[in-house]
Amino acid sequence: MNNAVILAGGQGKRMKSDIPKPMFKVLGEPMLEWVIKACENAGLSDLCIVKGFMAEYIDEYLNGRYETVLQSERLGTGHAVMQASDFMEKRRNENTLVLCGDAPFIDSDTIKKSLEMHISENNSVTVITAEIDCPKGYGRIVRTQNGISSIVEEKDATDSQREIKEVNSGAYWFRTADLLEYLSQLTQNNSQGEYYLTDTVFIALNKGRNVNAYKSENSDVVLGANDRKGLLELNTIARMAVIDKHLENGVEFTCTDGITIGRDVKIEPGTEILPGTRLLGNTTIGKGCAIGPNCIIEDCVIEDEVKLNYVQAFKSKIDAGVKIGPWVHIRPGSHIKSDVKIGDFVEIKNSTIGEGTAVAHLTYVGDSDVGKKVNFGCGTVTVNYDGIVKSRCEIGDNCFIGCNTNLIAPVKLGKAVYTAAGTTITKDVPDYALAIDRGTVQIKEGYSLRKLKKRIEKA
Ligand code: UD1
Ligand code: CA
Repeated sequence: MNNAVILAGGQGKRMKSDIPKPMFKVLGEPMLEWVIKACENAGLSDLCIVKGFMAEYIDEYLNGRYETVLQSERLGTGHAVMQASDFMEKRRNENTLVLCGDAPFIDSDTIKKSLEMHISENNSVTVITAEIDCPKGYGRIVRTQNGISSIVEEKDATDSQREIKEVNSGAYWFRTADLLEYLSQLTQNNSQGEYYLTDTVFIALNKGRNVNAYKSENSDVVLGANDRKGLLELNTIARMAVIDKHLENGVEFTCTDGITIGRDVKIEPGTEILPGTRLLGNTTIGKGCAIGPNCIIEDCVIEDEVKLNYVQAFKSKIDAGVKIGPWVHIRPGSHIKSDVKIGDFVEIKNSTIGEGTAVAHLTYVGDSDVGKKVNFGCGTVTVNYDGIVKSRCEIGDNCFIGCNTNLIAPVKLGKAVYTAAGTTITKDVPDYALAIDRGTVQIKEGYSLRKLKKRIEKA
């Protein structure tokens, strides 16, 4: 068994924000979550997370999922790891992977391969590195003929050291007992007056222990967000990597502007994603769909041949052949069954809409069970809330709902009920009946000639 310590105590001053930097999101997920998932995917589930600045955000997010320790003052990465000493003492005979909570692209393959090197070379420390074109801001890996000799921080580096393109990812494997020993020997003798975790390399070499660098094939592993610009760059890289994967799988994009797709979203080949669309959470999309422009879809299951145009849909299921939009809101708990058509300015909430039903325009359907082949006239409203309780409406197959019908829930329309335009339904209507509720229209001829005399004369 091995363990991991994830450093998430820093403030990230350059973010100019009140939330801890590892909680900033890349593709909708906190960077800390990316790092946790990389560990889990590498089979590491014994984690300790070091929190510090605004620790309550981390507590609230993790909700007890993993052990945490508090770093009550920020004295550097070495000091952060010291806070996990009790955790590591209990695991003295293992190996500890230390990771930065602000470098989200560490991957499980790199974690596993670097561990193989760490074990096979009997290393005390194995630093995970990569070569990048712009090494500015990262610790440089100084090598000699005998291997790695130290890690020098940007602020402490000489001009020639700054030329080095191999940089420290901030992730390392340590023999746990050795790490505990090195931590007690760290000092604050550097330009930032911090306890640098990177000094452990130097200490280990001085003791004659084996130290090596595992250079990852995936150079993104080192990338961290130190400011808002860096965070935007990480989002751009992650966004395009996901889009590339879908392109390879046969998903169509003719313009990627404004398209964000979460890592867990699944899309079948032959579907087109149009600009301005955000697909998030656990969303799956079938084949032959057109999603967008300008859709937000979160935690939805969408079957084949669905067309969504300017739709926002959350925690809902949309079956095959459905057409929705423009300007439609599908709220959680909805199930739109096959071949339904929903048109402009419609809101559906926590409702089932049966096969082939049409809700063409300006309609609110909330907390309702709607049958098959129902036709909703323009402006239908299910009145599901009386200010105290929410109640359901039931609408049978083949109903024809006239324009501006109000359905005061709880109420049930039987099969093929016809409601006259403008009717307010306050009681159940049996199968095949007409419900009509109207005052008699009175016509008073010539009335306007008196009432609107002045207006008519001006015109
Ligand atoms: C660190 C490394 C650098 C490496 C880079 C990779 C050191 C001295 N330098 O630099 O070699 O190239 O990471 O990204 O280690 N943290 C705490 N408590 C603290 C300070 C930091 O928990 O007191 C956490 C931060 O939240 C962050 C991580 O440690 O997740 C790294 O800290 P940061 O200050 O960003 O280190 P860098 O200067 O980037
Ligand atoms: Ca950093």
